[in-house]
Amino acid sequence: MGRINVALDGPAGAGKSTVARLVAEELGFVYIDTGAMYRAVTWKIIQEGLNSDQVDQVIAVAKQMQIELKPGQQGQKVFVDGIEVTDAIRSEEINQNVSWIASIPQIRELLVHLQQQMAVSKGIVMDGRDIGTHVLPDAEIKVFLTATAKERAKRRFQETKDPDITIDQLEFNINQRDRMDEQREASPLIRAEDAILLDSTEMSLSEVVTQVLDLCRTHV
Ligand code: C5P
Repeated sequence: MGRINVALDGPAGAGKSTVARLVAEELGFVYIDTGAMYRAVTWKIIQEGLNSDQVDQVIAVAKQMQIELKPGQQGQKVFVDGIEVTDAIRSEEINQNVSWIASIPQIRELLVHLQQQMAVSKGIVMDGRDIGTHVLPDAEIKVFLTATAKERAKRRFQETKDPDITIDQLEFNINQRDRMDEQREASPLIRAEDAILLDSTEMSLSEVVTQVLDLCRTHV
């Protein structure tokens, strides 16, 4: 199989990151988690004490900061200005704030440019919300991975390190984030016309990975 790019989009908690990481490992490709890049910006903005009324300052900070993605044992490690934030960017506070940051067109422009540069030499599995529609519209394989909000909340609940959060709260947060991602003006979350729709509600992780790998391997 030649070197191709694989775009994996879908709503929060659909399992994109795990699927993308395993598919990349199997194919010997590089995995890029673009959500982590929006989360890294969000982490920095919170560190700086900025909020949604200060969009100009938010953009200025985002332009100055340096984001690095490095391969690690369990997926990718994320660094902001040399500080490791791999775990810190998974907090509920970041979950709650990332969508307003990701709705700012100048921030998207900045990150999309970086993402496109990373994919130039192909052999990439990239996951996000706008990869098939906007970042890599020419990707050879496009998959839109989804599951019901209830199922996604259930999966998140099994992974959460927050002892106080309930499944209902997680489902509410997921629905809220989906709505913001779907309704924003700049590159909203939407299935690319040529993306294969995979509903993983009733599928196991390995079934999803196998299906995506089959799609990649049948590509000529
Ligand atoms: O995939 P993950 O849940 O980590 O993404 C966090 C958030 O980053 C999403 O809810 C969305 O607001 C934003 N995002 C985006 N475009 C991408 C990847 C993520 O807007 N390509």
